[in-house]
Amino acid sequence: MCGIIGIAGKTQAVPVLLDGLEKLEYRGYDSAGVAVITDDGTLRVEKCKGRIAVLREKTDEGAPITGTTGIGHTRWATHGEPSDINAHPQMGQEGIVAVVHNGIIENYRELKQSLERSGRVFQSETDTEVVAQLMEYYYDMYHDLMDAVYAMLSRIRGSYALGILSSDAPGQIIAAKKDAPLLIGYGEGENFIASDVTALLSHTRTVSYLDDDEVAVITPESVRIYDAGRLPVTKEKHAVEWDVSSAEKGGYAHFMLKEIMEQPDAVRRTFSPRLQDSRIEFEELAGVPDLIKNISRIYLVGCGSAYHVGVVGKYMMEKLLRIPAEAVLGSEFRYCDPIVGPDTLVIVISQSGETLDSMAALREAKRRGATVLAVVNVIGSSIAREADIVIYTWAGPEIAVATTKAYSTQLVLLSMLTVYFAEKLGKISSEDYGRYVNDLSELPGKMETTLGNIGNIQKTASLSFNHDSVFFIGRNLDYALGLEGSLKLKEISYIHSESYAAGELKHGTISLMEPGVLVVTLATCSSLIEKTWSNMVEVTTRGADVLALTTEDNVSRFSEEASAILPVPSTNELLQMNLNIIPLQLFAYYVALNRGCDIDKPRNLAKSVTVE
Ligand code: AGP
Repeated sequence: MCGIIGIAGKTQAVPVLLDGLEKLEYRGYDSAGVAVITDDGTLRVEKCKGRIAVLREKTDEGAPITGTTGIGHTRWATHGEPSDINAHPQMGQEGIVAVVHNGIIENYRELKQSLERSGRVFQSETDTEVVAQLMEYYYDMYHDLMDAVYAMLSRIRGSYALGILSSDAPGQIIAAKKDAPLLIGYGEGENFIASDVTALLSHTRTVSYLDDDEVAVITPESVRIYDAGRLPVTKEKHAVEWDVSSAEKGGYAHFMLKEIMEQPDAVRRTFSPRLQDSRIEFEELAGVPDLIKNISRIYLVGCGSAYHVGVVGKYMMEKLLRIPAEAVLGSEFRYCDPIVGPDTLVIVISQSGETLDSMAALREAKRRGATVLAVVNVIGSSIAREADIVIYTWAGPEIAVATTKAYSTQLVLLSMLTVYFAEKLGKISSEDYGRYVNDLSELPGKMETTLGNIGNIQKTASLSFNHDSVFFIGRNLDYALGLEGSLKLKEISYIHSESYAAGELKHGTISLMEPGVLVVTLATCSSLIEKTWSNMVEVTTRGADVLALTTEDNVSRFSEEASAILPVPSTNELLQMNLNIIPLQLFAYYVALNRGCDIDKPRNLAKSVTVE
């Protein structure tokens, strides 16, 4: 997934582009570039492999590059290795058009071959260059940029957010969108395009979100938007509530640590407005009060950490609602011929609201007649706008690639939804309902307490950062949580790790247990602690080290066998995972720090994956 920004304004464009790209760098960062129409009408492109800092140095912070209209791009490579030549913007061979692109042109090979047969010479290995070459091909034919844009769009297949600049149209940027996010920012004497709002917060808070197949033409004084048939479209303008500080580090060494520490507030912001007089209220569901009564099957769909939230949700919802619930990977859902009908509720979970695999699952679910409820963090994102119902986690901007506060707010929302639905179905006593609401109110405080153990966790990590292989074992909800603990460690420390149902280990994988292996044993489900303790002993007797995460009242049961303990307060079993995840996030953070890894921008990753 890549980051795009463009400005049509009256001030020097490149410094604005560089600052905006830095805010978008979490979306991809293996190469970057800018294109501007200089004051003498030349289309100038500067781009290179590496981070934005490298581009800043190459362009001398943009100072010598005149021009008030430009586009910028920070890349997460899909086609063509990270290199200077494969960086965006990509140009046509005549140097009249420059293009920045987020997404994948699926038929780029056949288009490239066709254009090469017509004599066009390609420079890069990217799919995006096909867009620039097609633009110039049709511009040569029609001598009109918009004709060329629509002709180009009629030829390409796949996903795209495009920014298009031409030396024949100084002061103008053309944008086009399909299946990848792109928004318009409205300024005073300047207008913008961007992949997401974080790039624009210091310039404007008024934005519109392009929908699929729309084309925008922006100049310093105007924004015109057209649909697939080139008919003018009027878009709603949204006021962005996020504050700039949310998108800054705030004194922390890394965004990830800041966002881990923000979790109590993020969770409080997410549930408080939905607790009224000790009742759980979802205004988003006010129009469908009996929704759950007509549901006989639930799918929880997401990718990565969002999928892991779905697994926790599966255990919670099946136990309380007595409705079959299944967690499914977004990338698998549309290919497994799911059993979906009007009696199916599909809950799509996504921080960015732009993950293409999750979006594809949403569209497949709707096509098959399901009701789709989305749990999303980014306001106005594509998944939020296409779902039948959207319930936002108000975690605020999450910048670190490894999700933490969004995961936690998703967990809380799913537990609230479970209890809300359970009451609608008469599956929860008023006593248990009241206990849950009380425990929910106390959750931020217990999260703060758990965060207070950061020193112990940092020390434990300093003794554990050299393991080559780490297993996370647990049962039931602890197993579901282990999936996320394992991914956090893998993502940022690059240590191989697996999460296993504790009872499953003996069916094969226990052969890997030997001295030097670390097994993180998660034991907080009270009814299963003894069994998990036995599984832990199975691995210690084979020489593995054990790090035990358990509730404070069970520490003594594990202190003999475990080389270290991560104690957590006890709470409602539907909220316990919100406490358990904190030590695992901090453990991953400090292990990665000890290993000198790039915490906020781990290698090969991007914050949101808008390609299949
Ligand atoms: C989580 O730390 C990863 N960054 C990744 O697994 C992420 O959860 C996944 O790509 C889904 O992203 P989304 O929540 O924005 O849809």
